[in-house]
Order: sequence, then structure tokens, then C-alpha cells
Amino acid sequence: MTDAPVLMQARDIRRHYPSGGGLFARKGIVKAVDGVSFELRAGETLAVVGESGCGKSTLARVATLIEPPTSGALHIDGAAMADEATRDRLRLSVQMVFQNPFGSLNPRKTIGAILQEPLEINARGSARAREAAARSMMDKVGLRQDQFARYPHMFSGGQRQRIAIARALMLNPRIVVADEPVSALDVSIQAQVLNLMMDLQDELKLAYLFISHDLSVVRHIARDVMVMYCGRPVEHGPKTSVFATPQHPYTRMLLAATPSIDPARRKPAVAIKGELPSPLNPPPGCAFASRCPHATARCVAERPEPRLFAGHAVACHHLEGMG
Ligand SMILES: Nc1ncnc2c1ncn2[C@@H]1O[C@H](COP(=O)(O)OP(=O)(O)OP(=O)(O)O)[C@@H](O)[C@H]1O
Ligand SMILES: [Mg+2]
Repeated sequence: MTDAPVLMQARDIRRHYPSGGGLFARKGIVKAVDGVSFELRAGETLAVVGESGCGKSTLARVATLIEPPTSGALHIDGAAMADEATRDRLRLSVQMVFQNPFGSLNPRKTIGAILQEPLEINARGSARAREAAARSMMDKVGLRQDQFARYPHMFSGGQRQRIAIARALMLNPRIVVADEPVSALDVSIQAQVLNLMMDLQDELKLAYLFISHDLSVVRHIARDVMVMYCGRPVEHGPKTSVFATPQHPYTRMLLAATPSIDPARRKPAVAIKGELPSPLNPPPGCAFASRCPHATARCVAERPEPRLFAGHAVACHHLEGMG
């Protein structure tokens, strides 16, 4: 642990959706996020990884206060979401960057206008000060001043993601939630955008909640990693510990399925077998039991709670036996 201040604290966050039922659909509750806790510190990155549908984007929407949790507590800068006024104030300190920068940038506005918009909406500064702030942010993210009056379609994917990052930073947030921010980019551009995010983090002491399904991206940027499965963390702790000594069978499978960027260590990627259980009325025991080679009757019946093992938190009944 470091002594940087905790900027976000999530305690047992759940986000459930009623599922309407109907002629063909089963009625029930979709447990998109079902018991997630973490701390996010200034200048540090927590990466959230897991397969499609495990609840990553839902967690991002709760963390950015776009949706309230069904239960659990979220503190930002030490404050709970006590009332609307507090929530509105705290919402400004958490900004989001999305996967698809084209979808999130207004095609009819110039970059200059896009960057100034958050300041206008929140009535910050004079027109002159807003333009100066937008121009200075363009410098920070590596955009040229002569691009100020250009429109989003005139930029490449990597540049558009720079614009999206710049816009997210205009209100000086302390926390940035990035949902697959480089997944839509060419591999050669991914590293540039990740390096930009890391430089900005150093300079501004930003905390990142970084969502990705790509473990090689996570390896690059994260300090801490949380592996999610069916709405719950199965393994969570410092990247160095989780990647070096993964304990949960699911994490081991994910890592085995990720090709190494180092050609000397590259092994054929292993496919992950079996299907994800439905988050609609999930099984009572370990959600991974249906795919796990170590599963026993206990795993099917009883849900494992996270406990400390080998330097980080793991939710599995069979840690001691797996070696
Ligand atoms: N508004 C909603 N109403 C009902 N179910 C929802 C809603 N939002 C998400 N879900 C369900 O919750 C689960 C988690 O979805 P989520 O989008 O958070 O997954 P994800 O990990 O971001 O997946 P991906 O990697 O594909 O983006 C899915 O089963 C999804 O269908
Ligand atoms: Mg998602």
C-alpha cells in the first residue's frame, strides 16, 4: 500500500436490474454487479478485467455516478452521496472516457468548442479564459493549435481519443473512469494513448479506474488489478502479485489465453472453455464452478468470499490444494 490519499472507496457495491420477463424471457433479477469493493488512490490505476458481460461497464456507470448502486456505499474524496447537491458536486470530480471516441464527440462541433463545453455548462471562467484553457489542454494531450477549429471526422482514431481524454480533463477531475479506452485503436496507437494517459496521471496525480478485457494492456498501465467474473471480483490486488502468482483458476485461464508481448515467452494461447452462466438469477455457489477443473460439491453450494492468499485477495474454496 502507498500513502497517497484514497479518492474513491467502494464497499460491497451491487447493481441489479429487474428483468421484465414476458412471453419468452424468464422473469428475475440481472445481478450485473454483485458485491464489489475497492479503494482508488491518487496517482494510481486500478484495472478491472474480465470477459464480456461480467459487469465492467455497469461498475463504471456506478463509479461515475451515472447510475446509483442498488446497494453498497460509494465514497468520493471521503464523502458519501448524502444528497443531490453532494452528488452533483462529486460528479464533477469523476469523469469518464469511453471506448468509441467517435460516438462520444459531437460531429458538428469543432475541437475547440468540444473542449470548452464542460466549462460553459458549469459556468467556469470568461470566454477568453475558456479558450485559453482549451488551448492549453490541447498542448497537454499532444494536439496541435492549428487543429482547434477542426471537426472530429478530420482526426484519426488515436487523435480522437486524445480529444476525448482532453475533454474529460477540462474540469480538473481527480478520478477518470476509462471504459476500454484503447480497445478500438490499432495496436500501434494503443501504446501512444496509454503512455499519454500515464504521463497525465503523473502530472495531475489522477486516479484511474481502467476497464479492459485485454490483459496485455492492463499489464502496461495498472498498479492494481481486479479480475471480475459474473459481477463479482474473483481476484484483486497489486498487479505484480496477481500477474506473478495468479491463484484463482479463472485468472490462470485468462492469463493463459493472453498471448505474451514478449516473443521469447510467447506460448500458444489457450482457449477458455465452457460458457458463462447467465447473470439472470446466477447460481448460489461459485459462479465459476461450471467451468472450473477443481470444482467440488462445496463450490456449487457455497459462494467463496474473498480472502487474503499469496499477497492479494482471492475468492476460491480450494486455494491451499492447488499449489
Ligand atoms: N440496463 C440494464 N438492464 C438490464 N441488464 C443490464 C443492463 N446493463 C447491463 N445489463 C446486463 O448486465 C451484465 C453486465 O453488463 P456490462 O455491460 O456491465 O458488461 P461488460 O463487462 O461491460 O461487458 P463488455 O465487455 O461486453 O462491455 C450483462 O449481462 C448485461 O446484459
Ligand atoms: Mg462494457
